[in-house]
Amino acid sequence: MTSSSTTWTDLVAISERVAPMRQLFETDPDRLAKHTIEAAGLVLDASKNRIDDALLAAMLSLAKSSAVEARRDAMFAGQKINLSERRAVLHVALRASRDAIYEADGKNVMPEVHAVLDHMEAFVGQVHGGAWTGHSGQRITDVIHIGIGGSDLGPRFACAALKAFHHTGLKVQFVANVDAHAIDDAVAGLDPASTLFIIASKTFTTAETMMNAHSARDWSLAGGVPEPELHRHFVAVSTNADAAKAFGIDVANMFGFWDWVGGRYSLWSAIGLPIALACGMDRFRELLAGARAMDTHFATAPLEDNMPVRLALIGIVNANLLGARSVCIAPYHQHLELLPAHLQQVEMESNGKSVDLEGLPVSHRTVPVIWGQPGTNAQHAYFQCLHQGTEWAPIDFVAVIDPGHRHFEHHRALLANCFAQSEALMRGKTTAEAKAELVAAGKDDAEAKRLGPHKTFPGNRPSNTIVLSRLDPASLGALIALYEHKVLVQGAIWNIDSFDQWGVELGKVLAKTIVDELEHAVPGTHDASTAALVDRARRLEAA
Ligand code: F6P
Repeated sequence: MTSSSTTWTDLVAISERVAPMRQLFETDPDRLAKHTIEAAGLVLDASKNRIDDALLAAMLSLAKSSAVEARRDAMFAGQKINLSERRAVLHVALRASRDAIYEADGKNVMPEVHAVLDHMEAFVGQVHGGAWTGHSGQRITDVIHIGIGGSDLGPRFACAALKAFHHTGLKVQFVANVDAHAIDDAVAGLDPASTLFIIASKTFTTAETMMNAHSARDWSLAGGVPEPELHRHFVAVSTNADAAKAFGIDVANMFGFWDWVGGRYSLWSAIGLPIALACGMDRFRELLAGARAMDTHFATAPLEDNMPVRLALIGIVNANLLGARSVCIAPYHQHLELLPAHLQQVEMESNGKSVDLEGLPVSHRTVPVIWGQPGTNAQHAYFQCLHQGTEWAPIDFVAVIDPGHRHFEHHRALLANCFAQSEALMRGKTTAEAKAELVAAGKDDAEAKRLGPHKTFPGNRPSNTIVLSRLDPASLGALIALYEHKVLVQGAIWNIDSFDQWGVELGKVLAKTIVDELEHAVPGTHDASTAALVDRARRLEAA
């Protein structure tokens, strides 16, 4: 919280006066309308949250008195809102139209953005049309994208989500983990002569990506690709052209981006090249257009009707006022399986901070843990706990109305389950109701009394439902952008830097030291546990 006169304690007090949701629905016929926002082809039904008129008004006034609008406008204006790294945060420019103007350091970035998009378009056209071949003249049949974190999760998720739009004849895979099983599995059965690697790394120094890139290179050479022809099998996406060149990538086959694109916000840049290869450049441009529609809404809608703002405020109610320690993401669409993984990075790498913009410890919780998997599978794994456990978690359900297939019976079952879960979580079931049901089913009073507590559901457990008419590039773009902007709003209210990620550095440095110790058998300085683990690995390797 920045300059609000309402304190967290005041907000907690207001939240404690909110009636149970069941009652709110019964007493307010306008509840659904008040808590539903439509934008960019998406519908957010936030009515099943523990929020009433008074709390909503207080949360909106918190947003107004915090730096939400200022930070949003500063982002769109290209100001350096990533304060610790002194960088602009301009992923919105990546999906802006050709004639828009977005400035970083006083320079309009749009000509460069669209030059890269045009380069991608030409390249995708060559690969799809067969003009781009491997060294022996064979068409490219397989693409392996090598990257990690933001250079992997976004495009990996989007490719999976847009499976229905994939271009036939080209298989796109992803390799991120330094665990060589990943690269081994990806290349298994492939012909190096028809395989193309995309090396995607903003810095072109990330250890995992570099190691996988070198292994891919070795595999290509061992598989008969002559060294002077490697450039037909390797392209790069990076801000570091020199390092990509030193690796052996032809400058003509490099796709650049800029330091004002954060890794976890980079799928809209050339980091999205595998999406364009998988689905075609037209579909990629539709993805950008969907995100752009959400950007326009976020930039222009009043805070009370602003979907990312509402989603963010509900998240703050759950985390800061009601004490939720995690958020469950439950997409009811198999192709959105990787949505939780992508949002883990977008939300947790962005807002997993405990010092404010001035470097002082924050006095409140920041981002909760994000987790989840698709419904209905999730229902048979951990929903028991979400309904009746002592731990609870707010849930974001994602429902898609048009399945894009003709198995209507499956789809009705899928949607019915999605809607039933949020209803059950909200309504719950009292012990009296449970007992009455048991008696109606023929149980005697003693049995109804014995089973009643086990069949009681506390209810009043919050959820959002985000509805897409269909899962297509535009709706996917809008959905991802919705969460990106939610992050900005929450970061502004928590007064933290949402766009740096210093927390990943310490482990990287320590791993480097341990690699040396494993390789050269030099003793390191560690705690007893780490020293024993290193020693055990070294002895096993030696044996
Ligand atoms: O894990 C930290 C991180 O810096 C992420 O923020 C980033 O997306 C990822 O590593 C990959 O970095 P790069 O694109 O430079 O290889």
